[in-house]
Amino acid sequence: MKRSYWEHMAERYNDEIFDVRRQDKKALITQAIKKYAHPSHRIIDIGCAIGKWFPVLSPLCKEVIALDISSANLKMAKASFSQLSNINYLQKDMSKPAVTLPVCELGICINAILTPLAKDRKIFFKNLSRCIARKGKLIVTVPSLESYLLSRRLQQEYDIDRSVFPKLSSPRKGLRNWNNLLQGVCDIDEVPHKHFLAEELQLLFSRAGFTPLQIQKIEYSWKTEFNQPPSWLRKPYPWDWMIVAERN
Ligand SMILES: C[S@@+](CC[C@H](N)C(=O)[O-])C[C@H]1O[C@@H](n2cnc3c(N)ncnc32)[C@H](O)[C@@H]1O
Repeated sequence: MKRSYWEHMAERYNDEIFDVRRQDKKALITQAIKKYAHPSHRIIDIGCAIGKWFPVLSPLCKEVIALDISSANLKMAKASFSQLSNINYLQKDMSKPAVTLPVCELGICINAILTPLAKDRKIFFKNLSRCIARKGKLIVTVPSLESYLLSRRLQQEYDIDRSVFPKLSSPRKGLRNWNNLLQGVCDIDEVPHKHFLAEELQLLFSRAGFTPLQIQKIEYSWKTEFNQPPSWLRKPYPWDWMIVAERN
């Protein structure tokens, strides 16, 4: 996803973008932040968008670095949270090499590693390791490929929301979807987003200079996947992955 995609999204942000903080019913991400934050810390919120995590982060630390690729998102965040005096705003692209980054004791990166381009993700991971201090912690959530496939399996098996999931009619689209799927790239509202396997995350973070400490499901309601989920459909719920990792 290019910067322009996120800049244009800003004005529709609340309507279009999934609110992880609100949907994380067990507040597992907030719990992880509280576990690792310290009043002396600088915490970096990577891909902070319009600042949904600021009310959690700001009281827990000395300074919050609010980083996003989109200046429109940062402008909205600034306007909404002008009362929080320890937030510093930084417009940066984490998929650019040699970008200047602060080094922080704790980082969060909540559903921001979404780009379908492998080369951009590679640089993103490298930059994650550049902005976390040694022994510092990083809390990341990303879309789960396992969850995506489970949803599609259930949709087909039980014919859920038939009109929203029409049968594939074009071989060209089929080939595109197949090639994307092999890379863990699946469409959300017709926009390709990277989805991750749990074991893939372990490997990626290890290779980026982190020790994975914890990997956990952030579960949501089935209403986040389907307009009309069957009333019997409960567990397993759809989920994102949360990984907590320590910088080596
Ligand atoms: C789905 S939103 C998540 C927002 C927020 N973390 C939350 O939990 O509410 C993804 C955010 O990541 C930002 N983003 C995407 N790619 C980025 C990049 N390469 N560098 C910095 N920010 C990026 C987007 O601008 C957007 O604000």
